[in-house]
Amino acid sequence: MCGIVGYVGHRPALDVVLAGLRRLEYRGYDSAGVALPHSGGLAVERKAGALVNLEQRLDEIGRDTFTGTAGIGHTRWATHGPPTDRNAHPHRSGPADAGKTAVVHNGIIENYLPLRAELEALDIWAESDTDTEIAAHLVALAYAGRAADPSTKGDLPASVRSVALRLEGAFTLVVTHADEPDTIVAARRSSPLVLGLGEGETFLASDVAAFIEFTRNAVELGQDQVVTITRDGYDVTDFRGEPVAVSPFEVTWDLAAAEKGGHDYFMLKEIEEQPTAIADTLRGHLVDGRIVLDEQRLTDQDLRDVDKVFVVACGTAYHSGLLAKYAIEHWTRLPVEIEVASEFRYRDPVLDRSTLVVAISQSGETADTLEALRHAKDQKARVLAICNTNGAQIPRESDAVIYTHAGPEIGVAATKTFTAQVAANYLVGLALAQARGTKYPDEVVREFHELEAAPKAVETVLESLGEARALGQLLADSKAVLFLGRHVGYPVALEGALKLKELAYMHAEAFAAGELKHGPIALIEPGLPVIVVMPSPKGRAVLHSKLLSNIQEIKARGARTVVLAEAGDETVKPFADHLFELPPISTLLQPLVATVPLQVIAAEIARARGYDVDKPRNLAKSVTVE
Ligand code: AGP
Repeated sequence: MCGIVGYVGHRPALDVVLAGLRRLEYRGYDSAGVALPHSGGLAVERKAGALVNLEQRLDEIGRDTFTGTAGIGHTRWATHGPPTDRNAHPHRSGPADAGKTAVVHNGIIENYLPLRAELEALDIWAESDTDTEIAAHLVALAYAGRAADPSTKGDLPASVRSVALRLEGAFTLVVTHADEPDTIVAARRSSPLVLGLGEGETFLASDVAAFIEFTRNAVELGQDQVVTITRDGYDVTDFRGEPVAVSPFEVTWDLAAAEKGGHDYFMLKEIEEQPTAIADTLRGHLVDGRIVLDEQRLTDQDLRDVDKVFVVACGTAYHSGLLAKYAIEHWTRLPVEIEVASEFRYRDPVLDRSTLVVAISQSGETADTLEALRHAKDQKARVLAICNTNGAQIPRESDAVIYTHAGPEIGVAATKTFTAQVAANYLVGLALAQARGTKYPDEVVREFHELEAAPKAVETVLESLGEARALGQLLADSKAVLFLGRHVGYPVALEGALKLKELAYMHAEAFAAGELKHGPIALIEPGLPVIVVMPSPKGRAVLHSKLLSNIQEIKARGARTVVLAEAGDETVKPFADHLFELPPISTLLQPLVATVPLQVIAAEIARARGYDVDKPRNLAKSVTVE
């Protein structure tokens, strides 16, 4: 997620903006930049890499043009276009107004390509690969009175509103213009933006961490709103210019808590970011009724030539891959093999030009997975990466990539990147089904829209996290916990067990419930907690009834049953010592909601044991050694 800071006031804006960007560094980024109005123009500088690179650059060129008391700044987490100086924000307009407009942006503008074509027809050519630059040109045209509606001429808020109305996707746009040196205008849709209200100074930022050293009086901007700030205050309207009432609040968090959204740990904040992570990962992948992949360098013919899929990944990514297997086989009837990356190349897998290898990695740097994809390419297989880190080694060496847009994940234990990976895996399945015709176009669109609705179901689960935390406290003193699931509930059980191992250092093991009678049932003893992931009773009835029998078998042997079941499923109640209700959702999408309470239970047990939830012992966020 990008970091944004805007300031108008009485202090040197460069100092305030750079201090704010430093406060936002925890969000992760790969380039940074600033823009300040100066003597009728704009002083703009941006640099790939860490903020210190930008500061060194400013020292090299001299800061005498960066002396104003208004300005904007940005730290970029690359989505469209690799992390380079050219793609770093702020982006400036060009011919329309001789570069007098600068924009920083957080989010994804889905329709930037047709808008770019419109600009090219006006002989306005983008210099960067980004969607953001398009917005800068459009605002410049509107402010110069050269847009379709000339009434925006010389009116910066109206110009920004007119552009915001044309954009599709999620965006926070913050705009400065050389002709309005004491004004900054911002537009917000589905991407965070807060105001800081000081004495003779006003702040804008992605989150309050950027300005709480200056003021704790804040205003949270709402959906489809435009704010104009000056040193004397602010004005908020909707995208059509109608005034909007907003309510200031006082920030009570300290800086450390502010970075974590008020939580004690980043992981807890990231668990709550999952609806946005899923939505942002899906955003822009359905265009004119067809699934489109990110940097698809695989043609539909390439996808039709596939006669086998092989998924390789590690840890949590591997569990998301298990779910990919269910979806891809169900939607395409293609055989899907899956292997942990560290075993893959040593088992001498059968691969050829018709094999599609899907390499899943949130960091994009995991050595086991990287070596597995290199082995696959040596065997002439095509490789599609699913990755959360733009420009990482694994996508760079793959034939195509789908980026998850979960934003940087600070907690070592994967949470939002897991659910985002599941969404991306399902996109691959739908793209294969679409290319191979195993699903009609209307069926593909229907499945996609069902996937798009999943974040709402995850929101519902997040509303009852208190129950999950209470379950964590109940289980905190357990010696071990078993997890049971069937079908897509089994990878969820595996993920729940992994979370518990890596966060609470507790023995935890997951089984396909049908395996119980083949040995693991010997482990059941009185009081042993067993967490069961129940399928919907409206799904595969046979799975539901068999798992219900499994619960009775373990209950009869004294197990302490914690059952995750669809709300309203009365059949499980007699056998559940503790019941966590899940919102109704289709079979393949249930993992997106069932995993969330398991993440919370593991984190709560770790907290109860006094462990560092963000930095578990012995673990690294990215395992770059084999
Ligand atoms: C998950 O919580 C763990 N941190 C670990 O299993 C992780 O999923 C695995 O190392 C793979 O990492 P990657 O997605 O960056 O490749």
